[in-house]
Amino acid sequence: MRWDFSKIRLDIKEESDRLKTDQELEAFRVKYLGKKGLVSEMYSSLGTLSAQEKPLVGKEANDLRNLINALIEEKKQSIKRGRKKDSGPKIDLTVPGVAGSLGHKHILNQTIDEILEVFKGLGFVVQEGPEIETEFNNFTALNIPVDHPSRDAFDTFYLEEPDPHNKGRFLLLRSHTSPGQIRIMKQYEPPLAVVIPGKVYRPDAVDASHSFMFHQIEGLLVDKDVKFSDLKGLLTVFCKRLFGEKIKMRFRPHFFPFTEPSAEVDISCYLCDGQGCSVCGRKGWLEIMGCGMVHPKVFEACGYPKGKYTGLAFGLGVERITMLKYGINDIRLFFENDVRFLKQF
Ligand code: DAH
Repeated sequence: MRWDFSKIRLDIKEESDRLKTDQELEAFRVKYLGKKGLVSEMYSSLGTLSAQEKPLVGKEANDLRNLINALIEEKKQSIKRGRKKDSGPKIDLTVPGVAGSLGHKHILNQTIDEILEVFKGLGFVVQEGPEIETEFNNFTALNIPVDHPSRDAFDTFYLEEPDPHNKGRFLLLRSHTSPGQIRIMKQYEPPLAVVIPGKVYRPDAVDASHSFMFHQIEGLLVDKDVKFSDLKGLLTVFCKRLFGEKIKMRFRPHFFPFTEPSAEVDISCYLCDGQGCSVCGRKGWLEIMGCGMVHPKVFEACGYPKGKYTGLAFGLGVERITMLKYGINDIRLFFENDVRFLKQF
């Protein structure tokens, strides 16, 4: 016999399994059923075959033809189904991915860092104090006695927890960073120069310029012969580094219980350059911090020998400085966590 029919059947099945496209299917059909294909060759050979072989080959050729037609039909359907599956949305692997947005430092922390850098450059060390303070550190040691009216301005949130070292007194949320001065002086001997950043709390009603929580940076320098001119020189350098060389500044006499003499520091308005505008309330000046020479009573409360040291201190509000620097008109924007606001800085 010229043909090995069982092998041909196997080959055909195998070959049809590998067909993937319409073109391959058509080539397969031509190869077996086409005019010059294998099955046609079988038919046209029939005339040359013996009477015995003829019906055998004729039947095999018919069976093969049927098999191939069935395989072609089956394959046609499966190629069609595959095409349908592929016709969904195509994935374009070259499209750039969606990058997760990386956060960055909050504008208040940026300002704090900037201010601390200036003071570090001037030889100050950064220290932090706790937000929960004793009444003694927050008030009494800073020369704000229990019944003194100046307590009202700073009066704050008291905790139910009693002060373990001071009977009858309670712990509180510090109303300023000045108690940090007391902690430093109780712990270290002069000479010392520290800046103390942190959160402070006051029971203020929240509005565009008030918040029950805000940030301050306290400064303290104590040594044997510190003078008021040192204070003025130091803060002049600070203001120029932070706001630019062109800025003018002035000291305005003020009262703070823990410094004597005391002053408030103004800088010339960044917007009108001292001419007077709506930002500075027509004054030409913007208040940015309080300062003064450390009061002898404060040294006394910290246990320093009388008359041995003099010192300068200052305290500034981080929100206020940030608002002035960037022209922000509402303190609440800092704390609302609106990314549209925050990502501008
Ligand atoms: N503690 C003051 C406040 O919260 C700010 C202040 C003023 C701090 C004068 C000082 C200073 O160290 O000398 O308003």
